[in-house]
Amino acid sequence: MRRLRSSESMRRLVRETQLDPAGFIFPLFVCPGEGVKRDINSMPGNSQQSVDLIVKECAEIRSLGIGGVILFGLPVTKDEMASGAYDPKGIVQQAIRAIKREVRDLLVITDVCNCEYTSHGHCGKLVDGEVDNDATLEWLAASALSHAQAGADIVAPSDMMDGRVAAIRRKLDANGFSSTPILAYAAKFASGFYGPFREAADSAPQFGDRRGYQMDPANAREAMREIELDLGEGADMIMVKPAMPYLDIIRMARERFDVPLAAYQVSGEFSMIMAAVQNGWLERERVMMESLTAIRRAGASIILTYFAKDAARLM
Ligand code: PBG
Repeated sequence: MRRLRSSESMRRLVRETQLDPAGFIFPLFVCPGEGVKRDINSMPGNSQQSVDLIVKECAEIRSLGIGGVILFGLPVTKDEMASGAYDPKGIVQQAIRAIKREVRDLLVITDVCNCEYTSHGHCGKLVDGEVDNDATLEWLAASALSHAQAGADIVAPSDMMDGRVAAIRRKLDANGFSSTPILAYAAKFASGFYGPFREAADSAPQFGDRRGYQMDPANAREAMREIELDLGEGADMIMVKPAMPYLDIIRMARERFDVPLAAYQVSGEFSMIMAAVQNGWLERERVMMESLTAIRRAGASIILTYFAKDAARLM
């Protein structure tokens, strides 16, 4: 076996898995104001930025050949009704318009969820202390439509309510957006690895957790059912999230479903590597590329990752 490992040129010739920046999506956090850039402590190199700076960053992202961005919003105010999520003049809606004006051909995906916009931090409408599934669908459909109207190329529901893909598809179709694709966070697990994101997006639930709607980390067959349901409701692409602790789920999904498959290397996966790097325990470039290669090898062709820019620079 060692004959084919004798030099980098030889190894390159027989390499089975290739990474391409065109398959990376970079997550961005948009906040109000102008010229605002607030570093996120737990995610070195990432920050909350106002629309003007987001637009500049998008120009850089495009020049690196990265596939696109996914936007998360930090609204001026939060309320019980998640009004900021579906406000046509909301923070994400403003950012989409600005990016589409200045960096036209960069693909803009929006995360469709309510947790960044509710005062209680849950992903939907609370009724008797529980997230009400069907009432939440209306907010999600309204948000997705407002994103499409602002110019989003793809909408990506991440809330894990039942029936949300169908509700969004119906709303988009009825309003002239039948060509806007849906990337469903189809198999999204109730994961401890979202910790740093909740600081980044200020979206930690004020009480309880998300286990009533996100999936139990122990379940693989159920993940396949979630994906099947989302595809049945009209999802164009599917996502598994987190990525590295769920490579088996990515592989299973790749073998069963013939649609584009995305995986989200989430905040905790990123921060964990960066913390070890800062301690001198891991080599940054090496571990970054290895983690992305592993996710790609498992079967994801699209990778949402906070490493997108750094990895693209190396490629
Ligand atoms: C919104 C959402 C979350 C993430 C993406 N969309 C957080 C959550 O479900 O609590 C996590 C992304 C990351 O950790 O990088 N619901």
